[in-house]
Order: sequence, then structure tokens, then C-alpha cells
Amino acid sequence: MKKKIIIANWKMNLIEAETIPLVKELIKELGDSPEKVDVVLCPSFIPLDEVSKLLEGTKIKLGAQDVFWEPRGTYTGEISPRMLKEWNCEYVIVGHSERRENLGETDEMINKKIRGALENDLVPIICVGETKEERKQGKKKTVVKKQLQAALKGIKLDGIKGIVVAYEPVWVIGTGKPVKPEDAEEMHEMINELLIKLYGENEREKYFRIIYGGSVDSGSALGFFAEKLIDGSLVGGASLRVEEFAGIVRAAVDSQ
Ligand code: PGA
Repeated sequence: MKKKIIIANWKMNLIEAETIPLVKELIKELGDSPEKVDVVLCPSFIPLDEVSKLLEGTKIKLGAQDVFWEPRGTYTGEISPRMLKEWNCEYVIVGHSERRENLGETDEMINKKIRGALENDLVPIICVGETKEERKQGKKKTVVKKQLQAALKGIKLDGIKGIVVAYEPVWVIGTGKPVKPEDAEEMHEMINELLIKLYGENEREKYFRIIYGGSVDSGSALGFFAEKLIDGSLVGGASLRVEEFAGIVRAAVDSQ
């Protein structure tokens, strides 16, 4: 079984003055759990530098919520992979459904961001998932398969640190009502098969983790982590509450 990974996605919820105390409390509350499972915090860009300093000497890792694909240049307002590296980020979320929907991010842009991240030694957390409408039409597997194939187009694995695929059914994000663990597992099976088809069994095993995201909290976490192919979770709302997030991390430790 792979080491589980629990990722906090704080989205655009906190200013720096709110982020710092949350990080301090989490460091205390999580204790030695981050030695047993990977824990990644993804604040917004502005507090990254400060959070990076707070995390020094802990096993908690830092991630960003987005990245541009070019290392430098005339791209007003963008944040490059080099900048994330300077702030000690190891992970970056790419292709979140909120960006696909609100900012028109395309599969092609997401593919370029993944390349940019990998070329700079960052681990991309690639988000894929179907909408309610697509699920109703019986298209959940074809939609997610197409998103992932496009995201990984031309991506070579040699020398990379790893890739996390986050299956997030768009219609349950932020609702407090996750899908059933066996429902997520069925999608993870499809993703697993696709990764094996694209890269072979050894490479799939060596480089990839597949996690579930969408309304996971401390009560539902263990059910997901008991499934064979669910290697962790991308957590939004529940990661803003210390007790909740610590409960999810503990569930991941207990499930190993
Ligand atoms: P949620 O968000 O846990 O609040 O549903 C998950 C996500 O958007 O990554």
C-alpha cells in the first residue's frame, strides 16, 4: 500500500493574517502524523513565503493552488514554477474544476502547466471530474478519461518526483455530501487502468497516486481510505478547520 497523501486546498478563503495562525495550530495539532502520511498545505500565493518559514523543520509540505507554464517572461500577473520553487513549494494543484469553470482553463493549458511544473521538479496535483449533467448522461467515465488523457499528453516520467491525480466529482465539491466510497473507487479503477495503459504497471506504481476530493470530512475519510485504490484526499472546506483536518489526517494514518 502506498503512503497516503492529504492535501489542504484553502482556495481564496484566507488573508495572510488568518493563514499564519491556522498553520501554527495545525503544526501543533498534527504532531508526528506528517511523518507517517504526506500532508501538504496549499495556501494562496501571498502567504507562501511566510508559511514556508513556519514549516521549516516540520515534515509538512507546501503546495500552491495554480501555476503558469513558462519559467519567466512577459506574462503580466502570472506566477511561474520558478517562483513556487523559491518559496519552497513541492506540490501544485493544476486544473481545479473552479479554474476550468470560472477562468476557462482548457485541457491544453492544463497540459502545459503540468509540463511546466514537472520541468521544475514540482509534483502536479491534476484535478479531473465530471459535472452533475455529465454524470446524468452516463458520461462520467468518458469525461474523466478524456480530461486525464489530455492532461498527460506527451508527458514523460523519467526523472520526475511524481504525479498526483485527484478525482473530484464537480457536483459534490463544497456541498458537504461526498459520493459513496465505492462510487469513487469505481472511478479510481478506471483511472488506474488508464495509467497502466499509458505508462505500464511499474511506472504507474512508481510515480502515481490517485486521491479523492469532494466534501471529505473527518467522519467520511476512513471510508474512502479503506478502499484499495484511494491513496488520500484533496480537502477543501474541512481543511479550514483544525480539528476536522487533523481528524482526516489521523484517519489516513489509521488506514495504513
Ligand atoms: P471540498 O473541496 O472539500 O470543500 O468539497 C474540495 C476541492 O475543491 O478540492
